[in-house]
Amino acid sequence: MKKIGVLTGGGDCPGLNPVIRAVVRKGLLEGYQLIGIKNGWKGLVENDTMPLDIDAVSGILPKGGTILGTSRTNPFKKEEDLKMVKENFKKMGLDALVAIGGEDTLGVALKLVKSGIPNIVGVPKTIDNDLSATDYTFGFDTALNVAMECIDRLHTTAESHHRIIVAEVMGRHAGWIAIEAGIAGGADVILIPEIPINMDDVCATIQKRHSRGKTFSIVVVAEGAQFEKGTMVLQEQKLDSFGHVRLGGIGEALAQEIEKRTGYETRVSVLGHIQRGGSPTAFDRVLGTRLGVKAIELIKNNKFGRMAALQGVKIVDVPLEEAVKALKTVDMDFYEMAKVFFG
Ligand code: F6P
Repeated sequence: MKKIGVLTGGGDCPGLNPVIRAVVRKGLLEGYQLIGIKNGWKGLVENDTMPLDIDAVSGILPKGGTILGTSRTNPFKKEEDLKMVKENFKKMGLDALVAIGGEDTLGVALKLVKSGIPNIVGVPKTIDNDLSATDYTFGFDTALNVAMECIDRLHTTAESHHRIIVAEVMGRHAGWIAIEAGIAGGADVILIPEIPINMDDVCATIQKRHSRGKTFSIVVVAEGAQFEKGTMVLQEQKLDSFGHVRLGGIGEALAQEIEKRTGYETRVSVLGHIQRGGSPTAFDRVLGTRLGVKAIELIKNNKFGRMAALQGVKIVDVPLEEAVKALKTVDMDFYEMAKVFFG
């Protein structure tokens, strides 16, 4: 009987549990034994596992987060950790591994495939939706809908108080949440990491809107957006094990600058991890389910080093290389379309 490990790495997101459930349900149908590796790559370093049978995944479909836990552990940071990953893979008796994650987790999966653990398949996860070779990652739709609802709520209070409200949403390198939640929520200005912020343009847009009688505005900004002078606002300088800094604070800096330049009272609301928590949308449950089933099919067909992906309406498989080689950022034509509704 084949033994299959499953892990979830990087930032959590709604839809992880539907994927785990699908991997287990389809895996059991194929006659496989499934084990959960706890807390991402950390569980492989530390040999920390849990059994994954049908009872373990019963009732988890609507739940946010991940029953396996997660971490941002990068086993390629320390030689010793990498050695343990390889040893534990053998010790656990794994025939294959399903790695569910974003660019960091799948980047590690690819490196492992090339350096002694070939039997890995990937499933694309991230609220940022910035993985290549898949039209959508699961988790994005839920985060987007949460952000849209928050923008709707901010609208009513901004309108009552005649204020500008800056909504800071997640999005480290790509502004997918900002642009889609901004369009869906009717934001008056949308600022994304792909385009440096020009304060003259932002204020002119707000002034134009106010000159036609409006007394409030909503500005959506992605946490990874930067001012034109190239400064990114950080919460702290410390790097995580994948070399990422902790972002956050652009909303506050932007609000202060808008108030200073326009004279309009400006407040900020940082949505933060609220976007990552809670129950997945139907779209993310279905997408996660389809991707999980596909992961087991890849294993069954010995298609390792590949990732399940959504292209158009079809679930396909792509080389892991293609998924992690470059980030999928917001298309400039799409941004131009969004600008029709600015101001
Ligand atoms: O990668 C997903 C993400 O939510 C980013 O949008 C954000 O920058 C980051 O994770 C936050 O990570 P953490 O939860 O570790 O603070």
